[in-house]
Amino acid sequence: MTATVIPPTLPGRFLLGSAPEFQRDTLHLLLESRKLGEFVRMYYGPFRLYIVNTPDLAHEVLVEKAASFYKTTVLKQVLEPAVGSGLFTNDGDSWRQQRRLAQPAFHTKRIAAYADVMVQFAHELAERWHDQQPLDVEHEMAGVTMQIVSKTLFDAHVTQEDKTGQAVATVLRLADQRFNRILQIPEWLPTPENRRMKEAIQHLDELIQGFIDERRASKEDKGDLLSMMIAATDDENGARMSDKQLRDEVMTVFGAGHETTAVTLTWAFYALSQHPEVEAKLHQELDSVLSGRLPTFEDLPKLVYTEKVIKETMRLYPPAWSVTREPIVPVRLADKYDVKKGEVLMVNIYGIHRDERYFPDAQRFDPERWTPENEKAMHRYQYLPFGAGPRICIGNTFAMMEARLVLATLAQRFRLTLAPDQAVVPNRVFTLRPRHGMRMIAHVRQPMPQPLI
Ligand code: HEM
Repeated sequence: MTATVIPPTLPGRFLLGSAPEFQRDTLHLLLESRKLGEFVRMYYGPFRLYIVNTPDLAHEVLVEKAASFYKTTVLKQVLEPAVGSGLFTNDGDSWRQQRRLAQPAFHTKRIAAYADVMVQFAHELAERWHDQQPLDVEHEMAGVTMQIVSKTLFDAHVTQEDKTGQAVATVLRLADQRFNRILQIPEWLPTPENRRMKEAIQHLDELIQGFIDERRASKEDKGDLLSMMIAATDDENGARMSDKQLRDEVMTVFGAGHETTAVTLTWAFYALSQHPEVEAKLHQELDSVLSGRLPTFEDLPKLVYTEKVIKETMRLYPPAWSVTREPIVPVRLADKYDVKKGEVLMVNIYGIHRDERYFPDAQRFDPERWTPENEKAMHRYQYLPFGAGPRICIGNTFAMMEARLVLATLAQRFRLTLAPDQAVVPNRVFTLRPRHGMRMIAHVRQPMPQPLI
């Protein structure tokens, strides 16, 4: 065994370490950290954190040595009040069993049935837009993806304006704030924030329990994720999900399954508005494949350029800008870096996606780089929008289908231009969002396509 190598350390301040810089501009810090090396140490207040800057090390952490890592304590502290031990926060045998039970609900065959719902909600959104309309694109995209996830998940109609939509938004916003704190405020303290969080969670709990009760009583298979998860039986031990597990998984998918896709679509419209040649090529594809009708699941293999636009958007603007892990046993990486149990590792997805060594001319938005030949030549772990290994996003097929279909439906009908006074700066909160929002103007391209049925 070779001697331990101490990784280079980001400069920091007495007691606070790099926490102020991290809070002020995490993305800058992540980009800068790459200059120090493949594996970089930093202090966040009293906590030691390591930044993983290469695809090889990302592979080692997320895939090869995945069994030595759990999700981090802070992630659990922040998210468990809302999502309990759903797939995103769960670990160990309990996570493995839940993943086996939930996996079939996300199978491509099952998900194909949701294509029409995705297109229908996008079409309804387009019907509400008109020429020269100013739009808050982030809000519009969050609305459509929330409708899609609630319909496909438990056959319900939820909008951002109703109590449920507001409760989901409250939970996500407060979780964001909590992630930024060095120390967490205990849940039991009756602060206004804790009260708001509790009220929002209580509303969602009642709603979801109602769905579960109704579904168990009627025994009806509505073809949605909830029906699938209620019916699922573990092949290995015959186990089924309890009400508590169902509730936690529904809440998890509700949280994980809409904002991520919404920000992808927001960044896609922004990137298109800045690259007229890409936009023209996308329109050409949409016009020739769809000839004015709405897209379907069957069109997806033909929407090749649309897929490239989405992939390139998630490269430059990965909604999950990092994933984090904590070793449950001492771990040695690259045969030289020793990480102790409980220290935190952060896989620098944002930095790897913008690294010239892996993506030539990395700052350029260029969907053409996603040719099959280029993809084949890439390191398997240089592009990680959905993470990697056993904890890879369970909703990745769902998300890719949704992003392509919603973009195709909206872009076929409208071009969006950036509002003249809109500054655009990526900001990492829980997901990568535009710091000052994304106000854009809609311009009609074509008459509204007619639904097939
Ligand atoms: C563009 C959209 C999306 C992106 C970029 C994204 C990204 C990710 C990433 C990076 C992870 C891994 C986190 C980690 O390793 O720590 C993850 C996990 C997860 N995602 Fe997604 N996601 C998206 C959409 C969705 C959708 C639509 C759903 C559900 C309908 C979903 C459900 C989940 C769940 C349940 C997990 C936890 C899986 C597990 O640990 O077993 N995601 N997602």
